[in-house]
Amino acid sequence: MAQPKYSTHLGMVDILPDDVRKWQFLEQLIRTEAERFNLEEIRTPIMEQTELIVRGLGQLTDIVSKEIFAFSRGDDNYVLRPELTAPVVRAYVEHHLEQRGGSQKLYYIGPMFRAERPQKGRQRQFHQFGVEVIGSDDPVADVEVIAFMIHIYNKVGIKNTTLKLNSVGDPESRDTYKKALREHLKPNFDELSEISKERYEKNPLRILDSKEEEDQPFIESAPIITDYLSEKSVHHYQKVKEYLTDLGIAFEEDPYLVRGMDYYTETAFELISPDLGSQDALAGGGRYDLLVEEIGGQPTPAVGFAAGMERLLIACDVHDIRLADEKSVDAYIVTLGDAARKWGLSHLPKIRSLGVSATMDYKGRSMKAQMKDANRENARYAIIVGDHELEADRFTFRDMENSEEEALSFSKILGRLRN
Ligand code: HAM
Repeated sequence: MAQPKYSTHLGMVDILPDDVRKWQFLEQLIRTEAERFNLEEIRTPIMEQTELIVRGLGQLTDIVSKEIFAFSRGDDNYVLRPELTAPVVRAYVEHHLEQRGGSQKLYYIGPMFRAERPQKGRQRQFHQFGVEVIGSDDPVADVEVIAFMIHIYNKVGIKNTTLKLNSVGDPESRDTYKKALREHLKPNFDELSEISKERYEKNPLRILDSKEEEDQPFIESAPIITDYLSEKSVHHYQKVKEYLTDLGIAFEEDPYLVRGMDYYTETAFELISPDLGSQDALAGGGRYDLLVEEIGGQPTPAVGFAAGMERLLIACDVHDIRLADEKSVDAYIVTLGDAARKWGLSHLPKIRSLGVSATMDYKGRSMKAQMKDANRENARYAIIVGDHELEADRFTFRDMENSEEEALSFSKILGRLRN
């Protein structure tokens, strides 16, 4: 085959029809379950203001410093959204969603963009489904969010996951911890990676999220944040653990889990899977009690998570979970001659109006080729139409599974298809 002249950008992937059926199945499952959890869908634009993402996620995060696709046009700075927490909070503030009353329990499914080095489970355009519950500081909200996340994987049939849990505390806890962390890193400051050196003063917690080889020994021996939590944060964290235990949701505490964005407060969590290789996070999230205010709204607590759709699909593949049936069509009209083709074209809508799928040959092929095509399309029935059949209103109705044929009027055929 000739080399195509154009191809997708690095890390951006076409989702072809055979795969789209799997996506549609998962999306439908997520929507149905979201409704059961009383979540409402929110859709925001693919592009946001660069400033929103920088402020929301944090200047020193990998996403902002290395991975955003940003450009300007006229006086406006655009960024392809790398995640949806900050955009959803922006929408919440912009449209005064608090006026709807109660907590806003929102979910989304859609594409995100990060200029990362592509590898298995890591793309530059990828898709997330996620939840943001805005307006509650109750640990019940944290646990419902986690329960929904786990519920989706259970529903799909992926059970060998591990929930990692941590508390990154309130600002007070973090200030005390940052001091302790700097103290710990200080003697080895010169041995830290360049990026960690940069983060040392402004944002030492980010160092815990460093992937640089030279930082690892100092991360492993670092003090843990849970030893520095304020009374309020300890209480919140304990309640989250208690409610998770009540629900039978197992978790592993990981005191070094800080997540990739700066907006987190209190609860932080990640769902990991051994099926994924080095990119082992299926999903992640946590509380972000300061973000609404940071973006210009009233102080409003919030919690959420997002999950990678591609990684969910990889896990399904590993477990041989069949998400969608093979493509098929209920009825295929096989036509012989012009009159039959015209008849076919005008009778397809009548079949479709029954709520079943129907197609015909688009290429004027021989009967043999059309039968072959009906097989390829996985047709359940073929309706064979020629001049003779039209005159007699008797068509060959062929069951493609057992090859049995009957001569039936069109109204009888409709009756059969209806059943
Ligand atoms: P995140 O951990 O950056 O969190 O992303 C969530 C999930 O998206 C990851 O666990 C992973 O499955 C998937 N993901 C991330 N980057 C890629 C990539 N390059 N290729 C494929 N999949 C990827 C957030 O985005 C937060 N907004 C989550 C959140 C919501 N926190 C609070 N609310």
